[in-house]
Amino acid sequence: MAGHIFKFLGYIFILKNILIKNLHEPFKKIASGFQYFNTVFQFAPVGLSIIRISDNQFLEINHCFTNYLGLLGEDVIGKTPLEVGFNATDWTKILDYAKNNKPHSGATSLGNLEISLEREGSGIAAISAETIQLGHEECILMSLTDIKELKSLHTEMVRLDRLNLVGQMAAGIAHEIRNPMTTVRGYLQLMGEKTQDMGQKSTLHFMIEELDRANTIIKEFLTLAKSHKPNYQIFNLNTLLQNLHPLIEADSFTQNKQIRFTPGDIPDIEISPKDITQMVLNICRNGLEAMSEGGCLTIQTYKKNHTVVLAIKDEGHGIPKELLEKLGTPFFTTKESGTGLGLSICYKIAKSHNARIDVLSSPEGTQFLISFPLQSILISSD
Ligand SMILES: Nc1ncnc2c1ncn2[C@@H]1O[C@H](COP(=O)(O)OP(=O)(O)OP(=O)(O)O)[C@@H](O)[C@H]1O
Ligand SMILES: [Mg+2]
Repeated sequence: MAGHIFKFLGYIFILKNILIKNLHEPFKKIASGFQYFNTVFQFAPVGLSIIRISDNQFLEINHCFTNYLGLLGEDVIGKTPLEVGFNATDWTKILDYAKNNKPHSGATSLGNLEISLEREGSGIAAISAETIQLGHEECILMSLTDIKELKSLHTEMVRLDRLNLVGQMAAGIAHEIRNPMTTVRGYLQLMGEKTQDMGQKSTLHFMIEELDRANTIIKEFLTLAKSHKPNYQIFNLNTLLQNLHPLIEADSFTQNKQIRFTPGDIPDIEISPKDITQMVLNICRNGLEAMSEGGCLTIQTYKKNHTVVLAIKDEGHGIPKELLEKLGTPFFTTKESGTGLGLSICYKIAKSHNARIDVLSSPEGTQFLISFPLQSILISSD
């Protein structure tokens, strides 16, 4: 009797194993497959949502899509696009497309429709849609890409392009103006030599000076607009500054100001000596102009991390915070006779050297820190 019972239990055990293997396994596979696709859907790096066409309700929506809407998933499911902020015109376009294209028809899907929500500060997104059949329901599968940054990048590119064109035109005009100016200057000089009238002589002299000033402005502007290939050499900044020292010193002496040069232990770097000379002179000139008599301009060099730093510090009136961001903008000047091109040229030179300019300023003075990379710079052609 006991033998029969054991036999019976044995059959049940075998049957159970067969059932588990043949019935449970497929369910497990289906469940893990569902989980797999759900994870892909939820965490896809583009916004995805499924909308039922019959009542326009969201059936599914992923994280990326809800992030754009600024809502939680559960607040969107069951709602219509209009209820979560879609613009009526945009939604009609999507719906019209869906109604005119049967599911899986292979017709071209609706691509990159630019939308923005009916809500202040909403970003711009591109929507693509495809009609799909899920069970008995016709649905719209909608993808969304946030293109706010792309859009602003594009706007900036258009602006720069326009600026570039204006720059090129201005450079062309500036160049052409110089020829007639040279002619006028020549005649004025001739008239000045011929006339005996001292009053007229000084007027003519003044006119020539004004023409020269205009010519200097044009020359500086052209330096800024023109793309020239800097002549890079392995050079030591200290040597360059030592050579320049007498020139800056002479400038400061005539203004009753002092200059201090403290060269640090720095390695040679790849620079264009002509360009850096212009940069140093422009920054030193600004520093001297900002200081009252007795002030001291300090020029320092040192090595810091992977850079060689040139620091030019003055004891001038400083630069107000709101003007700091304007530094380097062509023609930005607070000086009566300034052209506002000095620092623009410096920034352009720094860029071509892969160097960065930091400005620290307070009412006690201003410090320009120019950091040159130690590694051989990538010689840029502009
Ligand atoms: N060291 C400084 N201290 C205070 N203000 C400064 C200093 N350097 C620059 N600035 C401010 O930045 C402005 C722009 O300087 P930038 O050298 O470009 O032109 P500018 O000196 O006015 O004219 P220029 O083209 O003749 O050099 C100056 O007008 C001044 O207001
Ligand atoms: Mg200047």
